[in-house]
Amino acid sequence: MTKDDQAAEQIAMRGLLGEVTADLGVPLARGWEEAFWAVPRHRFLPDRVWLGDGLDSRDRSTDPSGWLSAAYADDSVVTQINDGHDPGEDEPWPSSSASAPSIVFRMLDMLDVKRGHRVLEVGTGTGWNAGLLAHRLGAESVTTVEVDPVLAVQAALNLKKVGLEPEVIGGDGAAGYVASAPYDRIIATCSVREVPRAWVDQARSGGVILTPWESPWVCYGLVRLVVDAEGLASGWFHPHSAFMLMRNQRTDLRIFRDVVRDDHQPDESSTTLPPSAVAGDDWAAQFAIGLQTQDVWRTWHDDPDVDGVSSRLWLATTDATSWAAVDWDGRSNDRFTVWQYGPRRLWNEVEAAHAWWHNVGRPGPERFGLTVKTDGTHAPWLDRPDQMVSRTG
Ligand SMILES: C[S@@+](CC[C@H](N)C(=O)[O-])C[C@H]1O[C@@H](n2cnc3c(N)ncnc32)[C@H](O)[C@@H]1O
Repeated sequence: MTKDDQAAEQIAMRGLLGEVTADLGVPLARGWEEAFWAVPRHRFLPDRVWLGDGLDSRDRSTDPSGWLSAAYADDSVVTQINDGHDPGEDEPWPSSSASAPSIVFRMLDMLDVKRGHRVLEVGTGTGWNAGLLAHRLGAESVTTVEVDPVLAVQAALNLKKVGLEPEVIGGDGAAGYVASAPYDRIIATCSVREVPRAWVDQARSGGVILTPWESPWVCYGLVRLVVDAEGLASGWFHPHSAFMLMRNQRTDLRIFRDVVRDDHQPDESSTTLPPSAVAGDDWAAQFAIGLQTQDVWRTWHDDPDVDGVSSRLWLATTDATSWAAVDWDGRSNDRFTVWQYGPRRLWNEVEAAHAWWHNVGRPGPERFGLTVKTDGTHAPWLDRPDQMVSRTG
């Protein structure tokens, strides 16, 4: 490597450190700043990465400065598409990434690690986060699990090249990793719709579980649970973050392939609640609706080939037995046509969930919490664990 290359890397790293600090609003803790310099992010990225919603590729060999800029921007960098398969004619979609550095350090800060803690990470990806943890705590204190065996092997190599050898396990992180339990801290870097009971069982009393959260309605938020001596895990949601879903919890629904059939006869009605109020830019509304509806998934269809319909919001249960559609004609803002089919009236459920959220003062995710009970059931609450959020359906 030339001196110019080294200088470019140092400048890029310093720039990113400034951005992360600005995002957090406080300087990084000294231990994390030391880890940031000792575990350079670009050493964990493959030579080909993909950026943004359009998944524009950057190749290190043809565009080294574009690749380095991607490594040191405060953005996630996609490091694998389509579970490592060639998408061919299919749409490419991200299946692994190096998360945006500011969220990485925000989560590490929330994890509140201390010397001597044993940590389990679920979702090794490139190995960067595991490397930061291993630098801070000592490699012998860190176990990381990755479901994709190719990524797991590559991450272990990436880590070794910077002199770190935490335990890297190829396997399904939903099962945790019992051989190295108990853990003081469990951090996931893929989102979950349910916190696996194994994580609670493998955490020490007083241990912390921090994971990105999503519902089939919206991918948004983190949840930080503290495990008590009885094996109950409880704690608050936090805003921010959108991570890729844990592989075994994915829903792969397509409306016309899996849900709507030619012989379905939906009921027609109308609503004054705009579909954009429940599935638009209001993250607080979406988060609260997702917590209540739990198994209701949705997708937008712009310009469907239907007379007088400008956009359509589709709703479906994740088991595809009930569905609804809400149409906007592109003009009126106080009347929308609703179609509902199946044993459940999904739009009615979503309207009720929205009305409840509105009536309790439109709380953001930070006013909600979650308890995972000893039988694994999940009980979300508002403000206090005894103020349970009722679920629809
Ligand atoms: C956002 S990436 C992780 C980023 C990573 N921590 C880093 O520093 O590069 C999410 C990862 O979770 C992995 N993953 C998804 N489901 C998993 C599961 N059930 N068990 C373990 N890893 C899983 C994905 O393969 C992907 O590599």
